Amino acid sequence: MSSIEHLFKNNLQWAEKIKQEDPNFFKSLSEQQSPEYLWIGCSDSRVPANELLGMQPGEVFVHRNIANQVIHTDLNCLSVLQFAVDILKVKHIIVCGHYGCGGIQAALEDEDHGLIDNWLRHIKVVHRFHKEKMAEVKDSPARENLLSELNVIEQVANVSNTTILKNAWKNNQEITIHGFIYNIHDGILKDLDVSISS
Ligand code: CO
Repeated sequence: MSSIEHLFKNNLQWAEKIKQEDPNFFKSLSEQQSPEYLWIGCSDSRVPANELLGMQPGEVFVHRNIANQVIHTDLNCLSVLQFAVDILKVKHIIVCGHYGCGGIQAALEDEDHGLIDNWLRHIKVVHRFHKEKMAEVKDSPARENLLSELNVIEQVANVSNTTILKNAWKNNQEITIHGFIYNIHDGILKDLDVSISS
């Protein structure tokens, strides 16, 4: 069996390094969190929210699932959203997809991937919504990239259509939803310019 001892060693080093830079870091963070951002991203290990935003613990509230989806019956995602909006009062919600997403690739295939195919059905629906746009693009990586972007746009709309956001906006809460795409080839984030703030 492979050892996981190194994880604890890494963790000690990490905590030490932070304390050297700011001895009060963990003490002040333990008293409260007040992140301004909610990140809804893919579970992909190559797309870590804090790191790619250059943010410290405490700065971004995070929800991740396969292919960064916001499904209206997903209590997990909705609970994160409600807590972030109603309690933490985040100012920005970022839905971030990425190129080279395995979930998007799998949704474009007609193969059996097991249970996850049920989760990926929602992506197939996005594909169907944008059938004509998708049909214009022939080669495979370009099709995946386009569907990754269309999926982000769709999920931004899903966030905006939740009762959580509708109520927040009705109560004049200032909150903007953004759609980003992340390029795993160069580490660069791109704004898809689909922000909604009311
Ligand atoms: Co992904």
